[in-house]
Amino acid sequence: MARADQIKALVESHFSGDEQRFQATAIQVAASAARQGHTRFARELRALIDAAEENASQRSFKPVPVVQPRGELSGLMAVTYPKTRFRDMVLDKELGGRLERVLVEQRQNDKLRSHGLEPRRKLLFKGAPGNGKTMTAHALAGELKLPLFSIQLDGLITKYLGETAAKLRLIFDAIAGTRAVYLFDEFDAIGARRDTGGDVGEIRRVLNTFLQFLEQDDSDSLVIGATNYADLLDDALFRRFDDVIEFSMPDDTLVRRIIEERLAGFTLRQTGWSGVTKSARGLSFAEIVHASEDAAKEALLSGTVSVSTTQLTRALSVRRETRPQS
Ligand SMILES: Nc1ncnc2c1ncn2[C@@H]1O[C@H](COP(=O)(O)OP(=O)(O)OP(=O)(O)O)[C@@H](O)[C@H]1O
Ligand SMILES: [Mg+2]
Repeated sequence: MARADQIKALVESHFSGDEQRFQATAIQVAASAARQGHTRFARELRALIDAAEENASQRSFKPVPVVQPRGELSGLMAVTYPKTRFRDMVLDKELGGRLERVLVEQRQNDKLRSHGLEPRRKLLFKGAPGNGKTMTAHALAGELKLPLFSIQLDGLITKYLGETAAKLRLIFDAIAGTRAVYLFDEFDAIGARRDTGGDVGEIRRVLNTFLQFLEQDDSDSLVIGATNYADLLDDALFRRFDDVIEFSMPDDTLVRRIIEERLAGFTLRQTGWSGVTKSARGLSFAEIVHASEDAAKEALLSGTVSVSTTQLTRALSVRRETRPQS
């Protein structure tokens, strides 16, 4: 039967999420039970372990324990466990296809690696604000059931000027140690300023360190950089990513789909779509979602769940007029 130290090891490894140790201890327990003549128990335990192993190998990704950045890391990144899925997003065919490809390669990680191929996992997201970069990183984590660690590079640099490289090392150690989605948001903070103003020496050092770490990283984690100003980024950066994915402003078809999705709980009767989409031109996904919500509120507060074309176009125009000039 299981000894006290084995039971302790089982409990410890369970709570620390150390599956390998848990399994190894369970096998030890089965072996010692067999030696002591408890053959039936030993056989049943082995069968349980084998079934669990079989199950795990059929899954394309390993279960991830609930993790929290600890110690120094806790000041560098924040973890969330997103529930967002791609079905919650409005995506055009091309973008949807590219993201699906990332998922498929991730889900078949083991198969690709067993043939010496690496799944796509270093991604650069570029595009104007509010067009779904952060949301997509959440959806990738949600689809893959992985935690999402967000790293605000910009804050990292100003907060720890002089020791950013050491902090980056900590982050890349975490990337190698815990499979998750790692989102380097406001990636421009190191990318764009490589040779423009500021403490150029420091920025350059940080950028070079980042590139080295990124290049060396052969973990199973997804590393995503998100930027608004990809044009300013260095070619050296682009080369380090497996995929550069562009998030464009929505076209008329997508505008209509976002509004319909957001107002799914409301009635849209005889909407004059050509006028509505015209009012939405130049607005981001986020602004259109907000305008739809404004129109819905106006309808609700006037006592109806039916949102009119006028309410929509007005809300969209207000968003357009009040958007910050860039
Ligand atoms: N493809 C999409 N489908 C549905 N909603 C979207 C989509 N893209 C963006 N949104 C809406 O816009 C909001 C903001 O998007 P998100 O934060 O992903 O933008 P971003 O590209 O990361 O912007 P920033 O560059 O400012 O960080 C989302 O929370 C969501 O409500
Ligand atoms: Mg964002």
